[in-house]
Amino acid sequence: MRNLKWSASHEVFVPDIDDEHKEIFDAVTDLRKALTGDSALTDIVRLTSRLAACVVDHFSHEERLMRAARYDSLRWHKQQHEAARRRVSQFAAQIEQGDRTAGLALVDYLSSWLANHTRLADRMMGAFLRNQRLGLGKMTFQAGTRPLDSCEWVNAQGDRFNPRVAKKCR
Ligand SMILES: [Fe+2]
Ligand SMILES: [Fe+2]
Repeated sequence: MRNLKWSASHEVFVPDIDDEHKEIFDAVTDLRKALTGDSALTDIVRLTSRLAACVVDHFSHEERLMRAARYDSLRWHKQQHEAARRRVSQFAAQIEQGDRTAGLALVDYLSSWLANHTRLADRMMGAFLRNQRLGLGKMTFQAGTRPLDSCEWVNAQGDRFNPRVAKKCR
């Protein structure tokens, strides 16, 4: 069975998303340990529910961020989430019926899916969100109607910012 461990290669450079990824990776590891350590079925079901909840919440969070930022590849990214959501809930239902091999299959599936998805799809999303947070916003006035210094700039979240001052990603 593959051992999923978060490393810098999974970093998407958006701190709240990276924190959620670490939490999910830890939840996969906890489930793997319970399965290989012969834990009781009730513990395995509890750890599976926790893992599934982390995954579902995390996908919703990413989808909210992408929607708010009008991310071009939202549909493609969301389709990947939907496929994984479906598989996780199928495995979770089998585990609840007492099928421990479904637990091992879930760990294998997510270990591979998460490693691939975070390194490509999430990293692409992270680059887009980071660029937006760094101030690639839009001007709220019609060009040429007012002097530049009296214009207001807003970012994708609607916050005002000064385009001349470089902002650090939070
Ligand atoms: Fe994602
Ligand atoms: Fe993610």
